[in-house]
Amino acid sequence: MIIAAVITAAGSGTRLAASSPDGAVPKALVTLDGRALVAWAVTRIADVAERIVVTAPALHVDAVQSALADAGVDALVVPGGDTRQASVAAGLSALALDDDDIVLIHDAARAFQEPAVAAATIEAVRAGADGAIPVLPVVDTLIGAPGPDGVIGEPVDREGIRAVQTPQTFRAAVAIDAHRRGAAPGAPPATDDATLARALGHRIVAVAGHEWGFKVTRPSDLPLAHHIARSLSGDGA
Ligand code: C5P
Repeated sequence: MIIAAVITAAGSGTRLAASSPDGAVPKALVTLDGRALVAWAVTRIADVAERIVVTAPALHVDAVQSALADAGVDALVVPGGDTRQASVAAGLSALALDDDDIVLIHDAARAFQEPAVAAATIEAVRAGADGAIPVLPVVDTLIGAPGPDGVIGEPVDREGIRAVQTPQTFRAAVAIDAHRRGAAPGAPPATDDATLARALGHRIVAVAGHEWGFKVTRPSDLPLAHHIARSLSGDGA
């Protein structure tokens, strides 16, 4: 039984590039305190996973490999797909897992997630869950989207809502089954792996997430990402 991870880094990062001086750089290769975002993600997940596959944009496989080598971290880099779901499927296939292995599916964009959170998801799966995901309470007031006339929709009770992070961790047989059935014609699209697995009847539990597991998405996320990178470098991470 091994603990393995797929780290998805095949997105184009267009929201981050919107105000970047070099919009040609995919998000995974944006540098934070001398280390590419994807290398931060691999460094932190390597605390808990012994085999890691990274999915990269097809045109940037070599650049992602070099960024990992520059950071002194080890992972197999494979081309991703057109959607996140296709990228995860490519990563799972490259890992060549046995059914009783445990696999973490993690977004490179959540590069600073605390390793203790990843470890908690693994413990929950070891304890018998089909899958485990980190979640956080929502701090904002939530409402239904305004209509065309600008009038707001119904309030949503935030006490009954959680925001979902990664890594999302599964028994390998569950992740493989969810992605095989999720890729079938007519299957509903899912923006994350737990939604896919849950819809197919698997038992997914939640563990406490961490603020550092935020998804680096917009230019305004970069100052916090730089701050965390600097403080981790100071720790000798
Ligand atoms: O687009 P979104 O923010 O949901 O992307 C989440 C993660 O999935 C990112 O780490 C991104 O690199 C990855 N992704 C991928 N392949 C795609 C699209 C997104 O690996 N085709």
